[in-house]
Amino acid sequence: MSRRHLYVIGTSGLAREMAQLASQVGAWDLVGFVSDGSQPIGTAVGSVRLVTTDELLVLEDPDADVLLGIGRPVARLAAGRRLAAASRLRFPNLVHPSAILDRGSVELGHGNVVTAGCVLTVDIVAGDFNLLNWQTTVGHDVRLGAGNVINPSVNLSGGVVVGDAVLIGTGAQVLEGRTVADRATVGAGAVVTRDVAAGTTVVGVPAREVATDG
Ligand SMILES: CC(C)(COP(=O)(O)OP(=O)(O)OC[C@H]1O[C@@H](n2cnc3c(N)ncnc32)[C@H](O)[C@@H]1OP(=O)(O)O)[C@@H](O)C(=O)NCCC(=O)NCCS
Repeated sequence: MSRRHLYVIGTSGLAREMAQLASQVGAWDLVGFVSDGSQPIGTAVGSVRLVTTDELLVLEDPDADVLLGIGRPVARLAAGRRLAAASRLRFPNLVHPSAILDRGSVELGHGNVVTAGCVLTVDIVAGDFNLLNWQTTVGHDVRLGAGNVINPSVNLSGGVVVGDAVLIGTGAQVLEGRTVADRATVGAGAVVTRDVAAGTTVVGVPAREVATDG
């Protein structure tokens, strides 16, 4: 049986990591990377090449599978929503075989990536296009919106709510029941002891607001 075509959107280091992950899961033929138009088709990205732009992809291989290799949450969410609305491209959930999750009670939308060593316990709901990076843990009853980028070794305790397009930096901890609202940024190593308002950046232990996008 022929395997489905897979394209990775983006050209960054994260995009190459997504290609590596897809090869470890092993269910696809990786055709190549999709350019935003700033680099010519044919440019090497690691050992694979830029093969098309997203405008061409929807015409050339309209039923292909797509993985988002975009690490900035607002851009990730916008690209996912735009392509999903305007094409037949498919956004599978990619779960590394070493991730531990209760498939009976963890609900994933589409386009989510769960990398090696992640642990998701029970009764968790995630929307679309989230990235859970290496060795992140997600506790019971967590709610994740869409387009969130959770960097390596983050711990989300039970009942945490994460909005949309949130970045949580590597090694951060979010204590039980706290909310991190849309477009917020939690700095690497922070411990979130209070709710984080939309569009704000918090850092430190305990996490304190240092910036806002409003
Ligand atoms: C919080 C963060 C987004 C801020 O980025 P930024 O806006 O570019 O901020 P800057 O690097 O200019 O730093 C601004 C100030 O905040 C401090 N700061 C930055 N990140 C911090 C952190 N995580 N914890 C504590 N202080 C931090 C800096 O020391 C600097 O302080 P100063 O003004 O007293 O010198 C970023 O530092 C961060 O933590 N990103 C997550 C990175 C990550 O997860 N990487 C893994 C990728 S896989």
